[in-house]
Amino acid sequence: MRRSVLIAGCGFVGLPLARNFVSSGWETHAITASESSAANLQGEAFRVHAANISERTGLKAFADHSFDVVIHCASSGRGDVSRYAAVFLAGTQNLMAHLDYRRLIFCSSTSVYAQTDGSWVDENSPANSVSETSQVLRKTEDMVLASGGTVTRLAGLYGPGRCVSLQRILEGRAAIQEDGKRVVNSLHQLDAAHALRFLAEAESSGLFNVVDNRPVTEMEWFHYVCERLNKPLPPRGPRDYNRKRGWSSKQVSNKKLRSLAWEPIYPTFKDGLDPLLRGVGT
Ligand SMILES: NC(=O)c1ccc[n+]([C@@H]2O[C@H](COP(=O)([O-])OP(=O)(O)OC[C@H]3O[C@@H](n4cnc5c(N)ncnc54)[C@H](OP(=O)(O)O)[C@@H]3O)[C@@H](O)[C@H]2O)c1
Repeated sequence: MRRSVLIAGCGFVGLPLARNFVSSGWETHAITASESSAANLQGEAFRVHAANISERTGLKAFADHSFDVVIHCASSGRGDVSRYAAVFLAGTQNLMAHLDYRRLIFCSSTSVYAQTDGSWVDENSPANSVSETSQVLRKTEDMVLASGGTVTRLAGLYGPGRCVSLQRILEGRAAIQEDGKRVVNSLHQLDAAHALRFLAEAESSGLFNVVDNRPVTEMEWFHYVCERLNKPLPPRGPRDYNRKRGWSSKQVSNKKLRSLAWEPIYPTFKDGLDPLLRGVGT
């Protein structure tokens, strides 16, 4: 029988993820919050539903469905902690309470690791970010793990149409924090989708970091990109403590996921950024 998946949240990661499942023959359903986003996806080869997972009654259209896998891939957008609680915590509680499924995968973030000393962190490391938004993610993670589900901690996403630091360079708004030694951890959009598909089919559940193979300092990142764009390095600035998920500097390990034989398509930020840099006329 055909396997079926429901992807709750069909945006930057959810869309390539849904296409990935379709191309592997899965019966694929995806949810967006708004009718307008659902309408934009009407040409896709999967079923699209507009539904609010944060509402108790939001999932009633799926009462008669049974899914092999459900993936929570919705985001809080630019929302505050109450939006986090609605989308991540209440949204996941609703998926768990109102859907019939065999496996649940929740997309969390590497921002839950609060380390600031540039050390390596893996799934056994403390994840004690004090930011309120990260605490909502941790609470949701614990709930999913306690139910036997899978949690993926995704690193900073980039891909066609979205790369925050590149955009800042192009708009002349970039700054290198302090001496540039802060470590950044990146993940290409297609590798996020690829890892989620991989974990949907894997025998293992539990907690997995999803990140490329090589964390780099901000300085290395900006050097490479500015050289490729033939632009000067951005000016130095103070630490950016305005980050919603807290300020951190750590090297996130993907060893656990790679031990299952997953490999990123874009192992380093250079591999993933090169096609984007060509697109901006280098
Ligand atoms: N961006 C990063 O660097 C980063 C890093 C680590 C982890 N993550 C995580 O990765 C996941 C995917 O992020 P993304 O960048 O792909 O998100 P995105 O592009 O913002 O897309 C979010 C999707 O979720 C839908 N959605 C939002 N609230 C919903 C609700 N209440 N009910 C149903 N659908 C809802 C949106 O629908 P509408 O279009 O109708 O609003 C949209 O389809 C999220 O869990 C995010 O926290 C992101």
